Amino acid sequence: DSHSSSTGGAEMEPDCLILIGKEEDIKKSQRITAKINGREIVVFYHEGKFHALDSRCYHEGGPLCLGEIEDIDGQACIVCPWHKFKITLETGEGLYEGINPLEPSPTPKWQSKGVKQRIHKVTIDSGNVYVSPPDLSVSFDSDYFAEKYKNGGELAM
Ligand code: FES
Repeated sequence: DSHSSSTGGAEMEPDCLILIGKEEDIKKSQRITAKINGREIVVFYHEGKFHALDSRCYHEGGPLCLGEIEDIDGQACIVCPWHKFKITLETGEGLYEGINPLEPSPTPKWQSKGVKQRIHKVTIDSGNVYVSPPDLSVSFDSDYFAEKYKNGGELAM
């Protein structure tokens, strides 16, 4: 008597957490992409922590899963491969380098544009990595591209 009804490979747990994979495997590969309710996400393992974000960049939908991780002012950031936007892994904030022209000798400083990329809550349980389904009552800029690319769909021309 089979009780599993799989939707696109993601198994729903009773408490609605979505199984992404084995902790050991993701620690080795350092990143993995997954679908949660048809939405593309990417889970990174970086410096001892797991981070899950929408995989399509909030700017124009670039594939963050192919980006490099850089340390910017002590914050781990994924750098989008398309136009090099920087997004903090911890909070999904977009960073930009700004100058205050009123300073005597203006030097560029990293500043936050606020949370642009939706991040997803990661739970580790018995060696498995789970992500919580997104709370869609709050919206983020990356939602637009998450919708566009949902279920493997391509951007309309
Ligand atoms: Fe990511 Fe433009 S699409 S920086």
